[in-house]
Amino acid sequence: MFTEASLYSFEEYQDTAKWLMSQTKNRPKVAIICGSGLGGLAEMLDDKNVFPYKDIPRFPTSTVVGHEGQLVFGKLNGHECVCMQGRFHFYEGYNIHTVTYPVRVFFLLGVEILIVTNAAGGLNGSYSVGDIMLIKDHINMPGFAGQNPLCGHNEPRFGVRFPCMSDAYDRELRALAKETAEEHGCGSFFQEGVYCMLAGPTYETVAECRALQKLGADVVGMSTVPEVVVARHCGLRVLGLSLITNKVVIDYDSSEKANHEEVLKTTKHRATDLQRLISQLISKL
Ligand code: HPA
Repeated sequence: MFTEASLYSFEEYQDTAKWLMSQTKNRPKVAIICGSGLGGLAEMLDDKNVFPYKDIPRFPTSTVVGHEGQLVFGKLNGHECVCMQGRFHFYEGYNIHTVTYPVRVFFLLGVEILIVTNAAGGLNGSYSVGDIMLIKDHINMPGFAGQNPLCGHNEPRFGVRFPCMSDAYDRELRALAKETAEEHGCGSFFQEGVYCMLAGPTYETVAECRALQKLGADVVGMSTVPEVVVARHCGLRVLGLSLITNKVVIDYDSSEKANHEEVLKTTKHRATDLQRLISQLISKL
């Protein structure tokens, strides 16, 4: 656990940002966090500048299968952006401040919009595997349990002590995403709903899934929310997209079991649609 101060000082985030700015001429306004199996988006960038996490001062490194672990600067559809190819998960054992470290670095780099993507399990009975869900809101379950990345000393150069979260997912960006999805033939598998984060790494029990449905969650996953909280704290506008990789087990008689291989398989199938959608959306910003 962190002590009275947060785990990192403002100067530490600044060191990382300064180092990156000394290594690349790119000054992106958009950062994209690529979820499980969604790192292909970074491959789509032109004029790439790649930094493996292990080479970036103070950056954590990624351990999970399907997460490559590098920061990729470049142009997507002509627009400068930076992609995190592989994110840091709480279930990997990282401190919640480490999970969100890159977001503050993005802020210091001058990023204004954060796009978050993830793989998620469908709780909403009307969703199908392969659907893309625009995140309208979230439920921060680790936050309920005291794991909020803003716990500890508040650094006012990032944001206020008690930030608002009722507008976490930017209305204009959501409208733009819906419009783009319609224009590019994604309308039939495009949803909008609530993402609930659990710490993981276990998938959910039947009782947990039923409870989450009652709480109003449409999908469940193990990431994204800490990064969004930190992004909103420092004033970034956020757009979130979940790829429904599996349906959660909601029936005691079901013989289905959630597993990581199924998640990766579905991601592979639909990842290009999601990546194309983001690329088209970026050209409208
Ligand atoms: N539960 C939690 N996280 C997930 C799931 C799930 O069913 N699918 C993909 N990520």
